[in-house]
Amino acid sequence: MSAAAEAGPGGTGQGGEIALATHGLMKSYGTTPALQGLDLTVPRGVVYGFLGPNGAGKTTTIRCLMGLIRPDGGEMEILGRPFTWRDRHRLEQVGSLIESPSFYPYLSGRDNLHVIGSTGASPRPGRVEEVLDLVGLRDRASDKVRTYSTGMRQRLAIAAALLSEPRLLVLDEPANGLDPAGIVAMRETLRCLAGQGTTVFVSSHILPEVQQLADVVGIVNRGRLVRQGALEEMLAQTGHVRVRVEPADSVAARALLDRVIGADAVWEETGQAEGDGWITVRVEPSRAGEVNRALAQAGIFATGLESGSDLETLFLSLTGAT
Ligand SMILES: Nc1ncnc2c1ncn2[C@@H]1O[C@H](COP(=O)(O)OP(=O)(O)O)[C@@H](O)[C@H]1O
Ligand SMILES: [Mg+2]
Repeated sequence: MSAAAEAGPGGTGQGGEIALATHGLMKSYGTTPALQGLDLTVPRGVVYGFLGPNGAGKTTTIRCLMGLIRPDGGEMEILGRPFTWRDRHRLEQVGSLIESPSFYPYLSGRDNLHVIGSTGASPRPGRVEEVLDLVGLRDRASDKVRTYSTGMRQRLAIAAALLSEPRLLVLDEPANGLDPAGIVAMRETLRCLAGQGTTVFVSSHILPEVQQLADVVGIVNRGRLVRQGALEEMLAQTGHVRVRVEPADSVAARALLDRVIGADAVWEETGQAEGDGWITVRVEPSRAGEVNRALAQAGIFATGLESGSDLETLFLSLTGAT
């Protein structure tokens, strides 16, 4: 790891903790604006979910950050230092997966990694085996790539991106084209990398996918940041669980939830038809089971249970799926 990777003067002041940032980033394709002043802040050591509907500008952002296209305006910062188009050589510290990778189908996964390793800065001895392990391909490393599933190829691509031991990994929609098992394996790989201190910046247009993976989320739409923050905080602030009880149980249910969940405006009656029995609790959607159990233990049986978050509503409205 070179000294250049350390936070130096000219960072953000808290440069040591920022893996990646953009300030007012602008990019148009002809007359089509793709980025209209994008501000992102990615802390070090987290999995950052870069979430936005198709056409929001995710790939454009990543291409700017990886020095593949030149922004029209704004600033970028990578690993605590300003990054411009001319600093592309510094990207050796960054691993990326942008377009679907191509491999030699008649070579094994392991041999493909050796070929890739021989083209850039040589990886340390033993690194190929290490990255095969990291992405869970050790068992199939000797098989020819043409026998690999889409998910295995995707993981091999991540292995390739990891060869140079990057401190930052940038992945553009890595779950695209993967089956559910492949998505789970990918998620485990990325979490494991983050656990070892690698910052993972990963884009997606699917909220549930990001919810299961990211520590910090940035939502982008039409080339601008809509919301950014720690996922747990966002869900806690915007989440709700709704339960429906028999009207006769309504008062008891309110009193109980008041006690169990907390009285301070944590929950409220929804303003639908008077006395329809729906009670809304302002908690993370994942606490639906806890709410239901508390009621059941008190002999109150919910006739309806729903959970969700404004985050979901917000994202659905952005993607036009409401
Ligand atoms: N090469 C290109 N030429 C012209 N327009 C483009 C090009 N690439 C992207 N765009 C447009 O820029 C906007 C952002 O696209 P993109 O960054 O690919 O979004 P995302 O990755 O979030 O789906 C879209 O309106 C898209 O149509
Ligand atoms: Mg894209």
